[in-house]
Parts: sequence; C-alpha cells; structure tokens
Amino acid sequence: MAAAPQAQTVNVTINGVELAVPSGELVVESVKRLWLEVPVFCYHPRMKPVGMCRMCLVEVGFKQPDGSVRMMPKPQAGCTLPASEGMVVLTDSESVHRDRKGVLEFLLINHPLDCPICDRGGECPLQNNTMAYGPSTTRFIEIKRHLPKAFPLSKYVTLDLERCIQCGRCVRFTEEISGDADLAFRFRGAEMQPSTFQLTDFESKFSGNVIEICPVGALTSAKYRFRARPWDLEAAPAVCTLTPCGTNVWLDHRAGRLVRINGRTNEEVNEEWTSDRTKFGHDFYNDPGRLTVPNVRDGDGFKPAAWGDVYDPILAAFAGGGDEVGMIVAPSLSNEALFLAQRLVRTVFGSENIDHRVSGPWVPRAESLRASGTDPVQSTIAELEHKSAVLVFGTGLADEQPMTFLRVRKGWFQRNMAVVAATPQKTEVDAFAAASLRYRPGTEATLAQGLADLAAGKGSASDVAAATGADQAQVEAAAKTLAGSGFAIVTTESLLTGEEGRRAAKILGEWAARAGGQFNCWPLHANSNGATELGALPDALPGFAPNERSGLDVRAMLQAAADGRLKALWLVGTDPLAEFPDRALAEKALETVPFLVVSHGLPVEACSYASVVLPMAFAAEQDGTYTSAERRVQRMRPALRAPGEAKPAWRIFSECLLRAKPMTPLFNPREVMDEIAQAVPAFAVARYDALPETGVVLRTGSGAGEPEPALAGETV
Ligand code: SF4
Ligand code: SF4
Ligand code: FES
Repeated sequence: MAAAPQAQTVNVTINGVELAVPSGELVVESVKRLWLEVPVFCYHPRMKPVGMCRMCLVEVGFKQPDGSVRMMPKPQAGCTLPASEGMVVLTDSESVHRDRKGVLEFLLINHPLDCPICDRGGECPLQNNTMAYGPSTTRFIEIKRHLPKAFPLSKYVTLDLERCIQCGRCVRFTEEISGDADLAFRFRGAEMQPSTFQLTDFESKFSGNVIEICPVGALTSAKYRFRARPWDLEAAPAVCTLTPCGTNVWLDHRAGRLVRINGRTNEEVNEEWTSDRTKFGHDFYNDPGRLTVPNVRDGDGFKPAAWGDVYDPILAAFAGGGDEVGMIVAPSLSNEALFLAQRLVRTVFGSENIDHRVSGPWVPRAESLRASGTDPVQSTIAELEHKSAVLVFGTGLADEQPMTFLRVRKGWFQRNMAVVAATPQKTEVDAFAAASLRYRPGTEATLAQGLADLAAGKGSASDVAAATGADQAQVEAAAKTLAGSGFAIVTTESLLTGEEGRRAAKILGEWAARAGGQFNCWPLHANSNGATELGALPDALPGFAPNERSGLDVRAMLQAAADGRLKALWLVGTDPLAEFPDRALAEKALETVPFLVVSHGLPVEACSYASVVLPMAFAAEQDGTYTSAERRVQRMRPALRAPGEAKPAWRIFSECLLRAKPMTPLFNPREVMDEIAQAVPAFAVARYDALPETGVVLRTGSGAGEPEPALAGETV
C-alpha cells in the first residue's frame, strides 16, 4: 500500500524559536503553533486572506547562506504571507508594537467609541486590541465623521456604519461562504460602506453569521440589540432542533430567558456557521403564553390539575385500547422521549398506531428505501466536500439542509468539486452547478434513470431531455460529470412525497450502489432519524413490532379519528392543525375524537380541542440526545429551566409506564439511553459516558441499528 503523502514542511523561526510548519501556511496560523497571537481584523481562517486592515503586521526576514538574517525593510501582513524556508518572524518587537499602535490609532480616528451602548462592548476585537496594543489617548481633536446609526439591513441585521472598519469580512462571507453575494462595498476610500445593492433587504438565508464575524459592533442582531451585555450572559452548548442538520450552537441566556444564539464550532457538522432558521428561530422559548400546569377540560373551558391526577384518566382512555387509540409525536423530540413513547404505545396501549411524520411523506415500510436494500444515509456532511462530484436532486438544499448546502458549496469553492443540480425550480445550487437540470415535475424517475444510464454510457441525452424538459446540453454535461465513482447524491424526504419521486429515489440509490457512489435521502426534521431507528413508526423496524403488525400512519390516524374509529388520540409536541397538509381533515379528526391529549410547550390551536393539556419542556430545558440527518447522535443538556410544572416528554411517558406496569423507574435520560443501547445495538456508542462532545455517527448500512427482536418490544 502506498504511504500517505506527507505535507511538505519548511523551517521557520518565530520570535527566536525554530519550528517546522507546512509550506505555504500563513504566518498568522504558524504563530498559533507556539501559542502566540497576532491580532487580526480582516483575516478569517475560513475565508481567503485579503490584507485589508494591516492589524497583523509582523517583522519578517530570511536566513542568508552565511547564517545572518536579512530583515525586510517594511513590516509585512502576517495574514497574507505564506511561510517559506528560512523565514524569520518577529511578532513582539518594538517596531511591531509601534506599527500596531499606528494602525489602531488610524482605525479609531473616526470610530464613534460608543462602547457603553454598543452591543459588541465586552466581546469586541477592536476594544480588545486597543486595550492590548493601542494608544491610551487620542491625538485627534477634530470632529468625527457621522453616518447613519442603526440602519436596518434586514429584519435580522442592523448596520451601524460609523463603527465599520471596512474589513470586508461580511462582504466576503456572502461571496465565499453563503454564495448569495448579497453584500458589496459601495463607494471608495473613506466613503466605502458595506451594503446591499440598491439598498434592498439583505435576504441571505445565512445572514446571521455576518453579525458574529464582524470584528466590531457595526453589524448587530436586531433581535439581540440592547437586550443584554456579554458579562450578563451564560452560554450553554446546545444543538438546533429546528433543522435536520444538528447544527451546534451556543444558547446565551440571561435571568432564565434565551437572548441570543451563536454558532458553536463542530468541524464535522456546521464548522462555525448557522442558518437564519437556527439563529433567529428559537423565540418560542420566551413565549409569554408557555404552558405551565396540566389542564383538564371543564365544560367549555379548562381547569388546572395536579400531575398526579391526570395520569389515571389518560391511562383509562388509552391503556389496552389497541387499534382504537394512537399517538402522533413530533420528529424533534429527543431519542429518549421517542423510545419511551413507542414503548408506551406498544406495551401499554397494545397498539401500533404511532407516527412522527406529521407533514409526511407516509411511505409504508414495505415500500421504503430500506426495504429495497438502500440505506438512506450513506454520507456524513463533512465528507461531502471531498467527493469528486455531488448530484443535488429534487431538493431546495439551502432551505431543507442548510449546513449540507454550505458544505457542498465549500467543496465547489475550495476544492473545485463538480456539482449537478436537478430541481424543478431554480435554487441556490444552480449558481455554482456545473450542470443545471430543470425538469418537469413528475419526471423525476425518468430523469434519474436517464442520468444513471448516460453515466454508464447507455441511452441518449436527447431522449432524456425530451422526456423531462431538461436542456440537452445540460443533461450531457451532468452525465459526464457523474460518470465516475466517488460521487454522492443528496436528496431529501420531500422527494418521497409522490410515487414518481419514490421511484426516482430507488433508482438513484441503485445507481449509487452500482457505480460506487453514495446515496443520501435525508429527512427534514431534527430527529426524524431517531424516530425511525427507535420505532416511532407504525411500520417500525422488525424488532419493534413483535406481532409484525402495521399500525396507522398520521394520515390514517386522523382519518380514523374523523370517521369515529379512534376513541383516544395523543399529540406530543405537534399540532396537526398547523403542520398536517390537510387542515380540514385534521380539524374534523380533533373535533370528533372523544379523548384528546395534547402535550406541548405552547398553547397551540389543537389544545382548544383537548380533554387534557400537558405542559412540556422544550429541548434546551432537558437532557437528551438527537439523531441528525447524517445519523449523528448529539447530546443536549438543560440550559434553561422549564416554566412552571412543565415536564420533559420522556418523563411523562416514564411516569405513565410506571403507573401502568410496575417496573424499575427510569430516573433520567441517561438510564433511558442505557435501555435504548440494549434494545438497539447501534445506539450503544451513544451511551452518555461514551458520547463525544462532537456526537457520534451511528453505523450506517442497511439494517444497521435494527433492534434485537427479543429486547425491543416488551422490556417492561
Ligand atoms: S465596535 Fe467595539 S470599540 Fe467600537 S463602539 Fe462598539 S464596542 Fe466600542
Ligand atoms: S460591517 Fe463589520 S464585517 Fe462588514 S466590513 Fe464593516 S467591520 Fe467588516
Ligand atoms: S488581518 Fe492581516 S491585514 Fe487584516
């Protein structure tokens, strides 16, 4: 076997210390190897260096053959200078400190210095660098430049032009990372200002990131403005439960209220980025209407009840109900809650009627990808950037899988990876795709088969183009791009909504398996994979359905309720009136079912039909794990207190189980995970003591994670 190529190194001397660093590494990165720091503003390690601010000046020289060192006459920008053999770098000399002081004095000439009322105050690189390297007083007595304050770039991002140091990080982010190129510099020289073209709204789906990377308080969050100071905040690590990507975040909270969300670095998942859905979508934690106590119906209204009094009527309505009862669970509940939910339904209710697919698609297990031998999760997010080519098929990736979108774009931008977009409408991927296939809806399978054949050297591009409406030249280019192995296909479960899409998914899966590629049909919710693996399905994996029976999916449960065939229904963290595509059916179902339990954190519309309403804690208010689209299990710890008497879903189910069947109580999610690990061997790596901070990807492959039949169904 050939040895792995070694990165070429060069010998450099930094502040008198000799070391070997990779050839071409930027000096600002090389100094970090000695735990030294060169201050920067415009440099960002995930973007191309531009050398705009000059904050990173260092002295540089080169060793001469006679052993002497010849210094360069002027200081150099460490962020644009690659390390080379014999380089000598000084980061702490008198001259460097004088240069830094000069740069800061220059930047501060027109800076408003409104630190006491600036959201960045306390965590501002300009403040910090001025404290460390800047002048203690100013020599300027002239009137400062004045520019618009608090200009709303969008509903999320506010621009304070006076504070901008023109580093270009925000502009480069939209060009290099998100790709929407929504921001640019208008005007030149001292007038230069970051802005949208024509002063339109900054509409990027990733706009919140510029707030975090702006090295000053020029870009601030419209939602966070003036709500806290950094020293008031407690930051807790968390995982986003609004997208399927498992984005790692910091939840900044103050006095029990969530005030800000920032990206948390996980190189395997989101690097350090967030989507706006993640960054700005968690307001519900602070909703003043949060449910705080259990409520039971009292005529046309409700009356508060004690937890101890609500379980008996619930169990009386559901226990042993068999086919006449059912539970619909949110696909964002924790693994522990989903596992106990299905256990309660199967072992106490005697029913298979449990489902998490509130908005579909409701593919019966027999027709699923797994049943056809295709594992729907074959890649991780991180490995996508290293593929030879990626086919994005039938999904608006930036909306449905925002972190995957950024990773695919990174593969194209940094590694020249070829990307093929095949979607009925234009999406963000088209902007960098080597081939864009705009097909007619309903021709998905024809296109998938056509591409698979053409990539294998069969068929004709003109036939595929004629049958699907795609441009022939683009079809030819796509087939050429995907002809080898080493490619990955990315689609989402939204493709499975129609029969044609389901056929397309199978064809794509078979093509990838045949050609040595990878296929991914990723779900759309934070823990859909956990729900599938842990049996929150009416067509559960074999070990979860001991009688090999199938239950009712969400659509069938609502239909049964509407027809009067269901006597009790339990909604957990979900409201079909808002999420199920057929609102009329959902309304009829909730009106008709004789006994309805709604467990939720908010007084959603479904509560008005309920017999019992149970207040539920949200994800950041409890311990638990979540299985993301790439099947990465990540842990969440309680960051906030649940309001009032609200309880986590796993605890509600555990207490029901305890009342229905005497058992050893499960005191915490750690114990539930131990039970899961016994029932579903793939989850053994996710036991709390074994779970790394970056999460763990469950073993993939068809059938991986299927429980052992003897353990899964009846363990209580
Ligand atoms: S950007 Fe920094 S230095 Fe400028 S006002 Fe805000 S906190 Fe002060
Ligand atoms: S707004 Fe911030 S990130 Fe953008 S150029 Fe100005 S200082 Fe840099
Ligand atoms: S960080 Fe080097 S020039 Fe700005």
